[in-house]
Amino acid sequence: MINRRQFILSSSGLLVTSKLGTSWGQDVVRDPFTLGVASGVPRPNSVLLWTRLAPEPFAGGGMPQSDVPVRVRLARDEELRDTMIDRIITAPADDGHSIHFRADGLEPGREYWYQFEVGEFASTVGRTKTAATGGLDDFRLAFASCQSLETGYYAAYRDMAEARPDLIIHLGDYIYEGGPRDESRGPVRRHMGAEIKTLWDYRNRHAQYRSDPNLQAAHATAPWMVAPDDHEIDNNWAGYTPEDPEEQTELEFRVRRWAALKAYYEHMPIENRPQLAELDSSLQIYTSLEFGDIAKVILLDTRQYRADQPCGQEFPAADDCNERYSNDISFTGREQEQWLFGELRDSEKHWNFMAQQTWFSQFRYTGNRYNMDQWDGYPAQRQQVIQRLADPELSNPIVLSGDWHCGCAMNVMEDFNSTVAPSVAAELAGTSISSICPWAAAVEESIPENPHVQYFSGDRRGYVLVDMNQERLLAQYRLVEDARDANSGVAVDAEMIVESGQRGFTA
Ligand SMILES: [Fe+2]
Repeated sequence: MINRRQFILSSSGLLVTSKLGTSWGQDVVRDPFTLGVASGVPRPNSVLLWTRLAPEPFAGGGMPQSDVPVRVRLARDEELRDTMIDRIITAPADDGHSIHFRADGLEPGREYWYQFEVGEFASTVGRTKTAATGGLDDFRLAFASCQSLETGYYAAYRDMAEARPDLIIHLGDYIYEGGPRDESRGPVRRHMGAEIKTLWDYRNRHAQYRSDPNLQAAHATAPWMVAPDDHEIDNNWAGYTPEDPEEQTELEFRVRRWAALKAYYEHMPIENRPQLAELDSSLQIYTSLEFGDIAKVILLDTRQYRADQPCGQEFPAADDCNERYSNDISFTGREQEQWLFGELRDSEKHWNFMAQQTWFSQFRYTGNRYNMDQWDGYPAQRQQVIQRLADPELSNPIVLSGDWHCGCAMNVMEDFNSTVAPSVAAELAGTSISSICPWAAAVEESIPENPHVQYFSGDRRGYVLVDMNQERLLAQYRLVEDARDANSGVAVDAEMIVESGQRGFTA
C-alpha cells in the first residue's frame, strides 16, 4: 500500500507540482467531507461519483475561492485494494466545490467501492453498482420522496441502506424551501434560516438535509436516480410561475429558479449541468436507464415544462373548470411527451417503470373534486399516456409516484369513468420519508369513490422496496413505526404483487 506522499510523487506528481505547487489540500484544514458521498447514472460501463467539499456546510461550504484538487479511487473491493481508478480530479469553486466524476471502463452488473481524499482527510467509502447487461434473474429498486427534516427523522433511509438495492429513485421534495416551523407545531428539527431564495440559501439548505447520517448512508449504498418536484424551488411552481405571483415578480422567480437548479445539481449525482440562456434556466432531468433484460426506468420531469395549474390552487378543486380538459395544456411539455412515447414504444425490457412525481391515476375527492397539481389537472394529456401504457407490445408497465405523503397502490384504468374498462398498469404511490400528510382523512374518506385503489396508508412514513424477477413483482410498503425517532423500527405494512403479464395488482 502506498502512502500519500508516494502517491503524490508517483501517480500525479506532474499535475500536483507543475500546476498546484505543494499546496494540494493544504488550504483545507478541516474535514471537508461533511456531506457524504453518492453515486448515480449507473450504466453498463460507467457510474457517476459525487461529493461536495464543505468544511462549513451551513455557511456556504467554507472552502477557499479556488478550485481544489481531489483524489478519487474506485476499486472492486470494499477495502479499496483491487483499484481500477486512482486519479486527481478538480472540485470547481464555481460548482460549490462539488464533484461529478464519471468513472468509466467498468464491468456491467458489478459492485464497486469508491472514496475521495483531500489533504489529510478521506471521505467514507461508498458502494455502487453498474447496470447489468443481458439476462438478469432479479432486480431490486427502492423509491422515496418528500423528506421534510422538520417533521421527522430518516429511519426509513437506514432501512433502505440495509436493503442494499440495485437502484434508489428519488421522486422529489428532497428539501423543503420554507423557513423554520413554529415550535408550537412540534418540529423534531428546524430549518436554519428563513425561506430560501438565493444560491447561498439553497446550498446551505441542501447541506442541512445532507448532513443527516441515515440519508448519507442511503447515498453511500447504491446509485441514485433523482428528479426534483416543487419544494426544491418553491411550493407548487410550474414553468416560470411561482406559488405566489403577487409576492415575487417573474424576474425574481427566474433568478430564484436558476439558483435552486444550480444548488440541486451541486448536491446530486447527476450528469447534466444546469443551463442559463438569457433569463431561461433549465436542468435536463428526464432520462432513462436499463438493467439487463429485466427493467427499464423512465424518469419524468413534471415541473419544468408544465403549463400552470388549471382551475386555481384550491384543493381539492371542483370539477367546474373546462380548462383542465384542454388538449393545449401539458404536464410534461410536448418535447418530453414525444420522448416518453418513444421510450415506451421502443422498450424490450420485461418491467417498464414510468417514475414521476405526482399521482398519475385519477383520484376523485368527495363532491367530485380533484387535485389540480397532479395529473388530474391535465387529464387530456394523461389519456394520451394511458393509451401508450395500454399498448400490448409494451411489457409490464408500472407507474411510480411521490408527492402526496401517503401510500397508495392503484390500478391505472384505461377509462377511469367506466365501470367496465380494463386496467392497463399498476401504480405504486409511495408515502413520504418524513413529511406529514394533513390531508390523509380527505383521501381516506374518498376511497369508496375510487374503486381502482388497492391499498392506502395515510398516517405513516416510509418508502417502497420493489423486487422483481421474470415471473412477478413484489412491492413492499415499508413503514416507519415512529418517524419522530431516528432509531425507529421499520415494518412491512403491505406487500403488493403484480404477476408478469397481468396489468394491475393481484387482488
Ligand atoms: Fe412533498
